[in-house]
Amino acid sequence: MMAGPKAAIKADPLSFKGWPRDRARRRIRFIKEYLVTPRGHGAGKPVNLRAFQKEIITGAFAPGIRTALISIPRANGKTAIAAMLGLAELFVGPMSAEVLVVASDQRQANITFKLAKRMVELNPELADRTHIFSDRIYVPETDSTLVPLPAEYGALQGYDPSLLIVDELHVVTEDVWSAAVTAAGKRPESLTLAISTPAASEDSLMWRLVKHGREDEDAQFYLREWAAPEGCEVTDRDAWRIANPALADEDPFLAEDAIEAVRKTIREPVFRQLRLGQWAKGIDSWLPFGAWEDLAAPEVVVDPKQKIVLGFDGSASGDSTALIGCTVEKQPHVFVAGLWENPHDPRWRVPRREVIDQIRYMFNHYNVVELAADPWGWRTELEELAQEFGEKRVLMWNTAQAQRMGPATDRMYQAVVNKELTHDGNQSMANHFSHAVAKSSTVGDLITKDKRNSPRKIDAAVAAIVALDRSAFHSKKAGRKVASFKR
Ligand SMILES: Nc1ncnc2c1ncn2[C@@H]1O[C@H](COP(=O)(O)OP(=O)(O)OP(=O)(O)O)[C@@H](O)[C@H]1O
Ligand SMILES: [Mg+2]
Repeated sequence: MMAGPKAAIKADPLSFKGWPRDRARRRIRFIKEYLVTPRGHGAGKPVNLRAFQKEIITGAFAPGIRTALISIPRANGKTAIAAMLGLAELFVGPMSAEVLVVASDQRQANITFKLAKRMVELNPELADRTHIFSDRIYVPETDSTLVPLPAEYGALQGYDPSLLIVDELHVVTEDVWSAAVTAAGKRPESLTLAISTPAASEDSLMWRLVKHGREDEDAQFYLREWAAPEGCEVTDRDAWRIANPALADEDPFLAEDAIEAVRKTIREPVFRQLRLGQWAKGIDSWLPFGAWEDLAAPEVVVDPKQKIVLGFDGSASGDSTALIGCTVEKQPHVFVAGLWENPHDPRWRVPRREVIDQIRYMFNHYNVVELAADPWGWRTELEELAQEFGEKRVLMWNTAQAQRMGPATDRMYQAVVNKELTHDGNQSMANHFSHAVAKSSTVGDLITKDKRNSPRKIDAAVAAIVALDRSAFHSKKAGRKVASFKR
């Protein structure tokens, strides 16, 4: 298409006299009266806005809502509703409305943009009052613009959006999200609306926001999730309906056989995530979804007199290095005593001095029974520490040795699923746990990264496994002493 406006606009502005002032109802009415379904089921006919779509609009455009997150499986009209709401904003939104449609990249954003363009072209009343450019849609009578943008930090700068729509949130980084929310916060009334399938991991912006929404403490935040009941069979068609409102509608625009075809050709965890809206991790992921997070007890303060052990997994060079503490007691508490991570800089090196100083600090200020450390790359320093704090208190623990690591890994697994420990809720440590992938061996499951050289680090999880194992050892030893004393 040629860039540049078409002929000058001669049509009178559309009149919305007598229309409801309520933001949601105005938009719903506009979509029903002015928009035509461009493709798929019902193509060429006026949009039949389904009950669940009205629910989304009513929830997201309720007074005071600044951020709305809709979690919904694929093919339930995410892109279509984004385009429809974008156009509604241009005609019945505030004056000088600015709509940003953000997707993973420019090409994805252009899909929504093209859909919106097509909807304008299909209604002469709208087409006569709209300038369509190659990179934006402009409506002179309201001085309003719609722009498709890639989810990049720089691209979002300099806008003052009244409506920012994110199609598929799991491609958006934290940086981009805060840029988006900041950009959208400048007007007295504005909305950031994200419509997305769940992400594949807990280490994601989407999961953070879903948790925020589930807490239900932020009156400016609206969350609506469509998902099949946890633990359902993948073949359970009632569960499909619960997760897919476009399928459950009396006039469905998503077909059951389409879902069935997909089910046969993709892996189960992916089907659960994308088609059932479930927070399922990859089949090889180590811990069950959310299991680690459930144990967070950030209010716990470790008393300096309380016996603790330290687990250490150090990197020889540019990898992350973790020092994890664990109390010696029946229900141990795991906490980060130090975690040094590469900030995505290839020249970065572990600050070895700082690491050793922190270990010293722990020995000097806490009741450290033992430091169990992977000696790889740190032998000299560890020997120095053994000299300083006593040979008995520094244990060389080779984390590459499956005989040792297998049972220790199993102990951590059991403790987590049986809720026999707590931890400090440290986000980086939680990420390391969520990155861990199970690798079976003759001595039980071991954990590894998802791939060699992956930036998804697991060192804090490894150090925690070591710490918990030694905590259990010392806890048992203490138990035995008491028993023999009684006799
Ligand atoms: N009321 C309606 N709302 C939305 N889409 C509808 C409606 N009626 C029919 N359709 C059609 O259903 C299809 C919805 O597909 P759309 O691409 O919007 O879904 P999606 O959730 O973005 O899919 P994906 O997950 O593949 O990105 C489109 O072809 C659209 O034209
Ligand atoms: Mg889409």
